[in-house]
Amino acid sequence: MSESSFDVIVLGAGAAGLMCAAQAGARGRRVLVLDRAEKPGKKILISGGGRCNFTNIHTAPERFISANPHFAKSALSRYTPHDFIALVDSHGIAWHEKTLGQLFCDGSARQIVELLLNECAKADVAVACDEQIGRVDHSGVRFAVTTQSQTVDADSLVIATGGPSIPKMGSTGYAYDLARQFGLKVVEPRPALVPLTLGGEDVLFRELSGVATPVEARCGKAAFREAALFTHRGLSGPAILQVSSYWQSGAAIAIDFLTDKERDWLLAEKRDNPGSTLRSVLRAALPQRLADELAERLSLDGPLANVPDADLRVVGARLADWRFQPNGTEGFAKAEVTVGGISTAELSSKTMEAKRVPSLFAIGEAVDVTGWLGGYNFQWAWASGWAAGQVA
Ligand code: FDA
Repeated sequence: MSESSFDVIVLGAGAAGLMCAAQAGARGRRVLVLDRAEKPGKKILISGGGRCNFTNIHTAPERFISANPHFAKSALSRYTPHDFIALVDSHGIAWHEKTLGQLFCDGSARQIVELLLNECAKADVAVACDEQIGRVDHSGVRFAVTTQSQTVDADSLVIATGGPSIPKMGSTGYAYDLARQFGLKVVEPRPALVPLTLGGEDVLFRELSGVATPVEARCGKAAFREAALFTHRGLSGPAILQVSSYWQSGAAIAIDFLTDKERDWLLAEKRDNPGSTLRSVLRAALPQRLADELAERLSLDGPLANVPDADLRVVGARLADWRFQPNGTEGFAKAEVTVGGISTAELSSKTMEAKRVPSLFAIGEAVDVTGWLGGYNFQWAWASGWAAGQVA
């Protein structure tokens, strides 16, 4: 067993860990990154459909979920999307905005992993993969990490092992176990950016599997205008993934199926096309299978001319506020990220250092800060990794 000493050990060679390591290394710190996977940045490689949605130009603290909504402000303001874009540009990586401020590589997510590894190499950071972390000891001054192949120690330890989403990629709640070992609280983790499952009366909607349509999906105060997709288990698509991060067991979600219609559009249809039926006007506005299912459930038969205005108003209101009662989510197996994690109350918002354990840091998805869909989670990984990298 070999033994070596470093200034900083970073656990996890993902987005946050590699950013932190490169920053600390650039300050002249001797840094070792340990990861149990066979290669670094595996989630980056599969992100954004292989093109990595590496940031979002509309990044703002309100687009992150945390028990303390103020916590992310400092790090996000000190390392912004423009800082990361400048880094991407300096590596000659071509990129484009897809939609809603989401920036993707023109080429491949591999370029982002190479960027991070090049920055680490420039800063003499050692990156060791295939390392199973056994124990982590703390003498009060230094941290010692024992893997199957070595024991290493350092002044500073950075927890950057992510969250438990997508366990088949090797993700676990290891960060939480380690945080608890040091007496840090963990906010109950739950799957986020995840498809919702339907049961009960809603179960029939599963027959619409494959149908997608633009909607506004709402859960509590959160509202997102994007596509929803019916699946064989329930609901997915970007609008649903977004509200899933706010959804708690037992809550309903509301869907406006006709976001571009005026409030009394059915009355206008009745006036302009009195012979039309609810089914025919819905078919003109929505995918046919969805239109038929909704018309069936609303059971409003015959020409609109024969339907009282009050009934049309009720139907219009239901279509703008259709309630689904999800009976669950597809769980961590399908969740892009995790809501919850190491409590921000334990950390300095400026440096990510544990208040009660000097020189212990936590960054990235391991922490109770979760971004919306669309590049926000990587921006949090870069910003929190950068913040810790300035002082670790
Ligand atoms: P990350 O999970 O990246 O890294 C943690 C590292 O720690 C891994 O390398 C892991 O092997 C290692 N590790 C874990 N346990 C360990 C242990 N016990 N010992 C040693 N090492 C350990 N976000 C976004 O902004 N844009 C996007 O396009 C996407 N796309 C996307 C697609 C899919 C399919 C998923 C699952 C997720 C996304 N995300 C995303 C979310 C994004 O991938 C995620 O928020 C970041 O990768 C989090 O970065 P971290 O560095 O915190 O963890």
